[in-house]
Amino acid sequence: MQTSQTTGVRPANSAQTNPAKNPILVLGGTGKTGQRVVKQLQALDWPLRVGSRSGHPPFDWLDTRTWKPCVEGIHSVYITFQPDLAVPGAVDAIRFFTKTALEAGVKKLVLLSGRGEKEAEACEQVVMQAGVDWTILRASWFCQNFSESVFLEPVQAGHLALPAGDIPEPFVDVDDIADVAVAALTEEGHNGQRYELTGPRMLTFKEASQEIGNAIGRVINYEQIPIGDYAAMLRSYHVPEDQVDLVVYLFTEVLDGRNASLTDGVQRALGRKPTDFATYVKKAAATGVWG
Ligand SMILES: NC(=O)c1ccc[n+]([C@@H]2O[C@H](COP(=O)([O-])OP(=O)(O)OC[C@H]3O[C@@H](n4cnc5c(N)ncnc54)[C@H](OP(=O)(O)O)[C@@H]3O)[C@@H](O)[C@H]2O)c1
Repeated sequence: MQTSQTTGVRPANSAQTNPAKNPILVLGGTGKTGQRVVKQLQALDWPLRVGSRSGHPPFDWLDTRTWKPCVEGIHSVYITFQPDLAVPGAVDAIRFFTKTALEAGVKKLVLLSGRGEKEAEACEQVVMQAGVDWTILRASWFCQNFSESVFLEPVQAGHLALPAGDIPEPFVDVDDIADVAVAALTEEGHNGQRYELTGPRMLTFKEASQEIGNAIGRVINYEQIPIGDYAAMLRSYHVPEDQVDLVVYLFTEVLDGRNASLTDGVQRALGRKPTDFATYVKKAAATGVWG
């Protein structure tokens, strides 16, 4: 069982929390942040519904008919959109989901957003203007992309080739995002807050690869490649064209230096410092994920 000390989250029965423990829907509840939010809410014995295509009832962003049954009887929703709030159609989806949720009686929305993405900001506005309580979590690139997502296989293979050079990124640990999400969902003190969530240190992708390599005692070669080569590589793996477009957008527009700064979002939300990349690497290495 997780404690408030290990999670950084105050217990549900403290101070200004919602004593009624009204039900929460966690969209993307099997994903990187969502599964951690679910775990913490379960530890708090909080009633919840896991939103996923394999949930009961199932939730699919591509099938609006699945949305109403999922929001019925729900008080608060943690919204993680797929694949990214920056893709065409995301604003309309968030608008329609918000409408569906409000019609079902939902009283609070907590949105996971991306830092430095104009389109994601439009989605934030939809949530902020919905007329119910809201909290926005605007996150930088996740540390866990190296251990639970797209960069895992290249790291395991010892060779990470990306179209990213000297621009540093303040990678954020998804455990921190989950802690903030749970606080926002279970405490009233976070209403109307937009938290920019970064780690405490900026690293280039090359430096991040080196830190992981040093921790596991292996060389992880980092190679900066042209964006066109990267897109061609993704296409050769039959990655759908809209996802190729998304990745190109993330590595060109979003990784242009606009996010190369640290923020105090984790400190403001939780009253503690964000997790350093080195601590994340230690945790991930201990799971044996990198071999
Ligand atoms: N990764 C980053 O560095 C980063 C940084 C900032 C913001 N974000 C944002 O975080 C959000 C989550 O991204 P992520 O890449 O980390 O993914 P993730 O949360 O790990 O995504 C997987 C989750 O989404 C669900 N899912 C996938 N397709 C779905 C669909 N069509 N309908 C409903 N649920 C679906 C999956 O469940 P099932 O497969 O069971 O349906 C799973 O629960 C995105 O909005 C992204 O923009 C990510």
